[in-house]
Amino acid sequence: MTTRRYRLAVLPADGIGREVIPAGLEVLRAVSEAHAAFAFETQEFDWGSERYLRQGAMMPSDGMRQLERGGFDAILLGPVGDPRVPDHVTLWGLLLPIRQGFDQYINLRPMRLLPGIKTPLAGKEPKDIDMVCVRENAEGEYAGVGGRLHRGTPAEVAIQSSVHTRHGTERVIRYAFEYARANGRKKVTSATKSNAQQYNMVFWDDIFAEVAARYPEVAHEQQLVDSLAARFVSKPESLDVLVASNLFGDILTDLGAAISGSMGIAPSANLNPERKFPSLFQAIHGSAPDIAGRGVANPLGTVWSIQMMLEHLGEAAAAKALMQAIEQFAATATAKTPDLGGRANTREATAALCGLIRGQR
Ligand code: IPM
Ligand code: MN
Repeated sequence: MTTRRYRLAVLPADGIGREVIPAGLEVLRAVSEAHAAFAFETQEFDWGSERYLRQGAMMPSDGMRQLERGGFDAILLGPVGDPRVPDHVTLWGLLLPIRQGFDQYINLRPMRLLPGIKTPLAGKEPKDIDMVCVRENAEGEYAGVGGRLHRGTPAEVAIQSSVHTRHGTERVIRYAFEYARANGRKKVTSATKSNAQQYNMVFWDDIFAEVAARYPEVAHEQQLVDSLAARFVSKPESLDVLVASNLFGDILTDLGAAISGSMGIAPSANLNPERKFPSLFQAIHGSAPDIAGRGVANPLGTVWSIQMMLEHLGEAAAAKALMQAIEQFAATATAKTPDLGGRANTREATAALCGLIRGQR
């Protein structure tokens, strides 16, 4: 059998990233050993807030070029954020330039309650929470267009414009329908706010209707994002695939992670579907400065993101096996981290996952 080789750019970044990224790589190694179909090599980059504090920049000025020329098949990124540096500085210094620069216009975020994990929603079971958000990831409210004038004076003004283009809106909505079709999902729900935002969100709705008409086999509906948030709590079983603008998708997926049992589990894939640039995989949780360095962070968010990476790379068998190990871990392992009500540390949880993977051989 030929062994496929992948090059992985690894950026542990900040806080608990230095714990969960090595844990994720250990699990990935176990998967590649158990399945022997692929091998990977990693190149680590020390970019992040520590670098910012030392050198005044989150990444070197040619950082994007390094990532582009490095021949990477994917990027694995830890959480970004440090209490000593303003968040907009760290995020606009690392994560957001990569999403935009590599045209990772899809942020795919499954929200699923795994059997064995407890949801805070009374009376809801795993069959009730199983949805996927297709979040626009390259423009919208995160376009970074705006400015501040007359700082500190009574005439001070701040403007932050949302930018929604036909190209950008069409492609994310199309992706949501294609995703539904390819994955046997039945319905796409669009998050909107066209009652208050009469330009950009009415435009979003128009394009949603246009694209939906091309997929008669997939049901579609739209809902105002505020009442959609309530529906996450009251009737999550009625939701399937969601498509949302950058900011709406950001907010809804934290809610989705919380009802799925823990922020520590939820994964994301920042995809450039055309594969012109490498895609980026990252747990959706933050850097958790309160527990950083204590070795108790949940590695599952990173591990599940790596599972999405394997899917993206076309390693379907390995991806399936890793998902099975994650499910088995959720259902049976006693080695769960404190966010899941357990007493295990990161290393013990990682060892338990690796054990389940080795057991698949
Ligand atoms: C996420 C994060 C980021 C976002 C932040 C850190 C900029 O919350 O990936 O969900 O808002 O996209
Ligand atoms: Mn977020």
